[in-house]
Amino acid sequence: MNPTIETLRNHRSDRSFTDAPVSDADLAAIVDCAHRAPTAMNGQHVSVVVTRDAAARARISAVANGQPWIAKAPVFITVVLDYHKTAAALARHGRTQVVQTSLEGLISGVTDVGIVLGTMIAAAHALGLGVVPIGSIRNRLPEMIALLGLPADCLPIVGLCIGHVDRQAPLKPRLALSTFRHDERYSEAGLAEAIEAYDRVLAEHLQNAGRKDAPAWSQSIAGAYDHKPRPEVDQAAAAQGFRIGG
Ligand SMILES: Cc1cc2nc3c(=O)[nH]c(=O)nc-3n(C[C@H](O)[C@H](O)[C@H](O)COP(=O)(O)O)c2cc1C
Repeated sequence: MNPTIETLRNHRSDRSFTDAPVSDADLAAIVDCAHRAPTAMNGQHVSVVVTRDAAARARISAVANGQPWIAKAPVFITVVLDYHKTAAALARHGRTQVVQTSLEGLISGVTDVGIVLGTMIAAAHALGLGVVPIGSIRNRLPEMIALLGLPADCLPIVGLCIGHVDRQAPLKPRLALSTFRHDERYSEAGLAEAIEAYDRVLAEHLQNAGRKDAPAWSQSIAGAYDHKPRPEVDQAAAAQGFRIGG
């Protein structure tokens, strides 16, 4: 099989890392791949901040509810939505940037962030390294912004732990492919049955992985999505210049 396809099909988030460092060459290759990723408007609205310092990783771990893999993995990369560089480009022409105050600007920039994240994941896996993305850096955005020294118009969106895997995680099952791939037109056929089946499959997967609670997927999603998550993000984003609608 094509080795790239095999690597991508084999994706899993790993949360168990050895103490072995990530080499400078591997880290440079991962960042180079992400730097070449496509970007809307060629706007290049992304920066990455590489954190190797153990004390800084411990602080990021604390921001993210103490997730231990952040302190353990030797490299943490924060992917930053960055409209600071484009603001500087506009300033050369005496213009004031407002794109970051529109939903479209946010969608566009965060899409770029996701592509950079996915590219780094693929590159790290291709080099035999393990990864886990970390969205919980948004728990305390002002602290992350201060730690990374981010200027205005920059927002940390997601991080990525990178390291050598100790105990490999099992592949996590997904909802049926029929709920993901739609040919020509979106189809809702079989969705309820697929969720019911997935609730059973995922609970079994989590039990096998040692999770005693092993909630059904629909149950944990219901617990997370019946309220607005991290409402304080609005204020922290506004303070950085991302005031949607104004
Ligand atoms: C944007 C994003 C944020 C995530 N945040 C976290 C996180 O804070 N902590 C964590 O342990 N996993 C995090 N994950 C990993 C997901 O839990 C994981 O991708 C999902 O459960 C599917 O498992 P798999 O990646 O092993 O296939 C995140 C993944 C993504 C894409």
